Amino acid sequence: MSKVNVVLGSFFGDEGKGKIIDYLSTNADVSIRCSGGNNAGHTIKVNGEKFAFHLIPSGILSPNTKALIGNGVVVDPKVLIEEINSLEQHGYSTKNLFISNKAHVIMPYHIELDKLLEENRGSAKIGTTARGIGPAYCDKYERSGIRMEDFITSNFRELALRNIENKNKIFKSFNYPTLDANKIIEEYEEYAKILAPYVKDTINIIHKSLDNNETILCEGAQATLLDIDFGTYPYVTSSNPTIGGVCTGTGIGAKDIGEVYGVLKAYSSKVGEGPFLTEQDNEIGNTIRELGHEYGTTTKRPRRCGWLDLVALKYACRINGLTGLAINHVDTIGKLDKIQLCVAYNHKGKISMDFSTNPTYISNCTPVYEEFDGNFGDLSNIKTKEDLPENAKKYLERIEEIVQVPIKFIGTGSDRNDMIIC
Ligand code: GDP
Ligand code: IMO
Ligand code: MG
Repeated sequence: MSKVNVVLGSFFGDEGKGKIIDYLSTNADVSIRCSGGNNAGHTIKVNGEKFAFHLIPSGILSPNTKALIGNGVVVDPKVLIEEINSLEQHGYSTKNLFISNKAHVIMPYHIELDKLLEENRGSAKIGTTARGIGPAYCDKYERSGIRMEDFITSNFRELALRNIENKNKIFKSFNYPTLDANKIIEEYEEYAKILAPYVKDTINIIHKSLDNNETILCEGAQATLLDIDFGTYPYVTSSNPTIGGVCTGTGIGAKDIGEVYGVLKAYSSKVGEGPFLTEQDNEIGNTIRELGHEYGTTTKRPRRCGWLDLVALKYACRINGLTGLAINHVDTIGKLDKIQLCVAYNHKGKISMDFSTNPTYISNCTPVYEEFDGNFGDLSNIKTKEDLPENAKKYLERIEEIVQVPIKFIGTGSDRNDMIIC
């Protein structure tokens, strides 16, 4: 029986999930995006050419892999069409792309609401991607959302009209510009025509594929500390990017899950507001940002940078049942002279590996660091773990020793080939 392999973000996103997915999907029959929407930005470099995926599973680059947008995803039709067109222009077929009939549609009122809510939060803003993600999930759970299966039928007009009228009442009460229902409906009916051929019962496709023992790969978006339940609430996204979201966002049961790979960087980064204990809001953080080109794929915002936090990583291992780690940007961290690794928290004098997203707990913790030598040198031609420089080995071995999960992939550069498979 083949099992479903899963790739998840371990921290605050942007750990390089795209690159690992790209590698694993070469041998996969099916690759699936499970949750989130175009708040995600997954970069893959193929022979120097850069692809940024926001909605389509990166597995689309493998010609024989079916690429599924699962029922847990929220889909902005306009963005999806742009992504389809861009792939086709680059010579990649989208004939293997399927969108779940149960995925919810992000409408313009979701995007406007996202902006309005952020504006109103003032200094307590979350720093969302302003892509309408939170409001689209709100409507899903409030049961007024529009699913793809309604979007592509005549039901759409009535549902959209009712929703736009209701949202306009909210906009009016905030003196925020209202939306022109007819204009939006006409525009979105055109998008629906383009997307209709891609809309399928993906749950059915997945179940058939499981029956046929095909290889399935689930592509996580966002990450553990951005999870609506397990992350640093309210500075999180509005879905479950952790292992539970894989099951509810696809229709795959727990017994079919095989390897669960947690992707991380050899340091940490974050976009948006919220606690980040090992952040280096100083020259070190700036240096890491420049060395690692840490600017958002989706919003181009400079990412906050800091040291790797093993207390948080251990939590991510537990939450997701990680069976292996994929650690990227080992080349980047290796350019520093000295590296700090957070191996415990000091909470009011008590040193432990206890993790909690409780804001009071976090604000009373300081990281306990171990120092490592950097200067790893050029890693570009290294293809085995054994051949890594001693300083890199010491750093990676200490990570494995503390979190007790084996490192299965080591990223040594941004290109798809810059990877050591352990
Ligand atoms: P994702 O959202 O988790 O898929 O990650 P992003 O694509 O948003 O951000 C990861 C960035 O790091 C991208 O620009 C990648 O090209 C780059 N990257 C991934 N792995 C490595 C690595 O091992 N070394 C270097 N230098 N860059 C990497
Ligand atoms: P990938 O898949 C990094 C962050 C936003 C913000 C918070 C809420 O590329 O790793 P939202 O628009 O989701 O309501 O914003 O979540 N965020 C991400 N940060 N990588 C991502 O995705 C993210 N998706 C959302 O910056 O802090
Ligand atoms: Mg990203």
